[in-house]
Amino acid sequence: MKLINFNEIEAKERYKLMAGNIIPRPIAWIVTENDGVINVAPFSYFTGVSSKPPLLMVSIGRKKPNINEPKDTFKNIKETKKATVCLVPIELTEKMDKTSEVLPHNVSEADEFNVELKRIDDNFPPIVKGCKRAFLTTLYGTFEKDEMATIPFFLKIEKMYMDGEFEPVARVGKGYAKLCEMKN
Ligand SMILES: Cc1cc2nc3c(=O)[nH]c(=O)nc-3n(C[C@H](O)[C@H](O)[C@H](O)COP(=O)(O)O)c2cc1C
Repeated sequence: MKLINFNEIEAKERYKLMAGNIIPRPIAWIVTENDGVINVAPFSYFTGVSSKPPLLMVSIGRKKPNINEPKDTFKNIKETKKATVCLVPIELTEKMDKTSEVLPHNVSEADEFNVELKRIDDNFPPIVKGCKRAFLTTLYGTFEKDEMATIPFFLKIEKMYMDGEFEPVARVGKGYAKLCEMKN
């Protein structure tokens, strides 16, 4: 038996314990658009938190190696108040993983990694082509304290995109997993 005191271990260790045991986690593949540059990045501190109003929560951190700079997705949502949250089908796992690379703010992951986009609504950033589910969201609010390395963003779902069957990929620790069905 072990009782781990989270106040006495490093953040990296806490992350390992949380990401390896709170499983599986869905992945929000977020598309934002700012000054004509499209940004695409995955986030798995992500879940649905309420249906009245319909809210998602995504926790977004700072940019490595300069931890004083917010990630592009963070900056873009704060500035434009909009985000398109795509859910990731198994077949796009590798592509999604690539888009987690840190790029300068004015460089689009979509261009850099050949991620095809599809405009489905003029008022929101496009979806990643091939995604079968996506939420078109507006910023509802954030929860911020000085000590927080990642900031929870609450996003309100304005529209949901659905297209055919969807087999999602999930995050387990640093790896990925398929979901399997539980039979009762
Ligand atoms: C599957 C996966 C899940 C991730 N989850 C998060 C997360 O929940 N929060 C976070 O800040 N970064 C997360 N990251 C790292 C970001 O994707 C990465 O920092 C990315 O460069 C951010 O891009 P941006 O600066 O274009 O917003 C994750 C990466 C991967 C591959």
